[in-house]
Amino acid sequence: MATPVPVHEPHKVKTVRPIAFPGIEERKRNLAAAHFNTFNLTPRQVAFDMVSYGCGAVTQEQLAGQLLGDEAYAGARNFETMNAQITRVLGHTYVCPTHNTLGSVKILLHAFAKSGQRLPSNARARIDLHAPRGIELLDVRDHAEGVFTGNFDLARLETVIGEQRPPFIGAQAFADGQHPLSLANLRAVRELADRHGLRLVLDVSRVVENAWYIQCYEPGLADRTIADLVKLIAKSAHAIMMDGAQDARANTGGFLATDNPADHERFINDIVVFEGLHTYGGMAGRTMEMIARGLELMCEETSVQWAMAQTERFTARLREGGVPLERGCDGAYLQADQFLPQAGAHAAHALACALYQTSGVRALVPGLVGRDSLLPLQIPRLAMTNRQLDQVADAVIALYRQREQVPALKLERDSDWHDALHFGSVFADLAEYHFDCEPWLIHTLEPIALTSREQRERAIREAGWNTFLLRSADVAIDLLTDSGTTAMSTAQWAAYDAASPTPATSDAYLDFVAAIRDTYGYDHVLPTHQGRAAEQILSEVMIKPGQIVPGNMYFTTTKVHQEYAGGVFADVIVDEAHDSTSTFRWKGNIDIAKLDALVREHGADKIAYISFELSVNLAGGQPVSMDNLREVYAWTRKHGIAVMFDATRAVENAYLIQKHDLRYRSTSVKDILREIMLYGDGATVSGKKDFLINIGGLLTYKDNADWARRSEAKLRIYEGGVRDGGLPAADLAAMAQGVREMVDDRYIRARIEQSVRLAGWLREAGVPVVEPTGTHAVFVDARRFLPHLDQDEYPAQRLASEIYVETGVRPMERGNVSSGRKADGKNYRPALELVRLTLSRRVYTDDHLRAVADGIIRLWQRRHEIGGLRFVYEPRDLRFFQGRFEPIPGGEQEQPGKRASGAA
Ligand code: F0G
Repeated sequence: MATPVPVHEPHKVKTVRPIAFPGIEERKRNLAAAHFNTFNLTPRQVAFDMVSYGCGAVTQEQLAGQLLGDEAYAGARNFETMNAQITRVLGHTYVCPTHNTLGSVKILLHAFAKSGQRLPSNARARIDLHAPRGIELLDVRDHAEGVFTGNFDLARLETVIGEQRPPFIGAQAFADGQHPLSLANLRAVRELADRHGLRLVLDVSRVVENAWYIQCYEPGLADRTIADLVKLIAKSAHAIMMDGAQDARANTGGFLATDNPADHERFINDIVVFEGLHTYGGMAGRTMEMIARGLELMCEETSVQWAMAQTERFTARLREGGVPLERGCDGAYLQADQFLPQAGAHAAHALACALYQTSGVRALVPGLVGRDSLLPLQIPRLAMTNRQLDQVADAVIALYRQREQVPALKLERDSDWHDALHFGSVFADLAEYHFDCEPWLIHTLEPIALTSREQRERAIREAGWNTFLLRSADVAIDLLTDSGTTAMSTAQWAAYDAASPTPATSDAYLDFVAAIRDTYGYDHVLPTHQGRAAEQILSEVMIKPGQIVPGNMYFTTTKVHQEYAGGVFADVIVDEAHDSTSTFRWKGNIDIAKLDALVREHGADKIAYISFELSVNLAGGQPVSMDNLREVYAWTRKHGIAVMFDATRAVENAYLIQKHDLRYRSTSVKDILREIMLYGDGATVSGKKDFLINIGGLLTYKDNADWARRSEAKLRIYEGGVRDGGLPAADLAAMAQGVREMVDDRYIRARIEQSVRLAGWLREAGVPVVEPTGTHAVFVDARRFLPHLDQDEYPAQRLASEIYVETGVRPMERGNVSSGRKADGKNYRPALELVRLTLSRRVYTDDHLRAVADGIIRLWQRRHEIGGLRFVYEPRDLRFFQGRFEPIPGGEQEQPGKRASGAA
């Protein structure tokens, strides 16, 4: 069935490949060094590489397959896996593997064709491969056709065959990346081929995009799945060939396949001469495994719909900007001669150079010189977000507006092939385009659960109305926490794999120490398995029973450890922090008057240390100002009291200082962080946040060797080795790399501005959110959302559950349930009754978050129907984790979910 266009990606991001955004001067240098031919630029020199071949994102299953290659010379199991998958997905039985499409063409032509023959085809790009072999490619495309522009002109095909018998009929699904053909036309060609005793050979490298066109536009086929159509297309031909680096999203590889054992025999006898053995064909075992998995995944209906919708959106935006183009199956093919009529014969190269100069976007001019003047802007399959694509389109449009200034290139070295041309040029004075999108590409993706409302209603009942108890398999978009949910980068994975394990001192440990010293400026570095472990040790080392620990609000685990160590927590955060409507910018600040009062009442030696959290989580991710950091530090020097940071989201705090404190506008986040840390004596960090890793933590002291030594003693008992804190070297290595990546200005800006946009969408619709927007999360004010509920009916807990049922999105309660009960058994009833929508790092896109906002807005519109909850099971400590609830009978007008649908 044709599924509706999904409103967000049917997957989330698993791993990312960071992008370097070279500045304008660097780009000019690169262009000059590349002889003004963008073919010579490397990915590290470009912002977005608009090519699709072998550049797609893979799924986690494909990536896992990479390690399953058995790399046998003969009879590799991977070949068997791939063969079976080809038969299942494409319908052909006999498979001949090749190293890529060129290998397939080589075998095909050697087996069936000879020089001097003429080959009718609906594609022209392959002229590159045929002309040098003396085979003429005859254009038999139906140029009158409007939608299926790749269709054959059957009458002309008949004529051509009559003039000189061709070796076979060559067809391409989505010919040249621009021309889809219809199933009816393909079947007519097959019938014609059979009549003439000729083979129909079909290149199915872009079969999925063609299937999508058929599903959309061919009468009577709208209710067929992409998988069905792919098979129907492939089965229409006598033989097929496929490049693994296209739809199957491997980075190389390919195959020929047929149902004719005699043809197969010819292929495999040639393969040993040209490519390798018939069971690997010049491919690594892992490549066969990637293709096998890719073949199945490429037909996944929602992914196809998403990818094609992205292409539609990209071309539509360019068209609206007036840019002359032809729509391709994988992007927009710019008409360079119309874009830059003044640029003459090499308009496509001039356009590619100007685009790179102004924005860092690279487009490639492919193939043989003199064919046409199209400049393809292809979308690497599923590797980019819509936000990025919109900006790439805007970069092109911005160039189009100043097209008259773009100079022609002067040819300095000629060649038959575009990749070998050299040019000279002067740089025109072109206005630059600046990107502010996600500074990474999707490297690996992970499918997400797409559930029905009925499934979600059942799931929340089974979870006792507690989002902590939901199975993530039932969750579409997981906004429970930003803790350990990060997508790691390829550089982190490389470090992870390269780390040598040891229970003694690892190189990864030394690297981690170096990264921490460089980033925080503290001498003593103690890794822990996560934040709360560091908190336990710090509390035990620093607190004497009965001492007071003043803190700017509290975090659940931090406070529990202070209390276990005999301390008494005292809240010294500014009053504004407890008011969700106050727009005070620095709601994380400590109120010095409250500190003074504590000293007056108890004396300075009764104070263990100041527990100073940055980007205060429970206040809504609210930052501390640099002035407050300085004042508190100065105050503590006067009283001989230490400052211990909870630096869990310190980088996020540093970014808000850069954004909102004019004096720091042009200071890097890294330098701001260093200054923040000057105003403290030690810190605990939950590495699972800022450090961009899935597990890890840190306890660090500026210079106090005694505290470090005492902490090390506890580290050995509680955590693991003194140089690993219970973490394997691999995780330490990934953490060291994460610490370097976390202070990248572009990354942290993209992260936090995403929260700002989500909050903005909600606010516009009237949904009450905590002001101002914090860092890692958007906090919905459940008290104002559900004012008809008493706080002991747990409005935030109920709202979090309702958001899940409505949208498949999982938020977290941060209110009365999280605060627990006082000594008298009554609930704390904190001022803030919040639902937290927490954004993982580098995992979700704006399209995911737009869907989140839309779902919550639907709930807002029927908020009066939502009733309260009561406990059916209540643990004593940290009850929010395991507590179970039920709706209060009669507490609502209607059961949840009777209205409005809306899948996410
Ligand atoms: N400090 C803060 C401010 C935190 O947010 C967390 C964890 C910790 C300490 C504890 O660190 O989890 O590594 O042991 N916060 C997570 C959250 C759980 O969802 O906010 P940990």
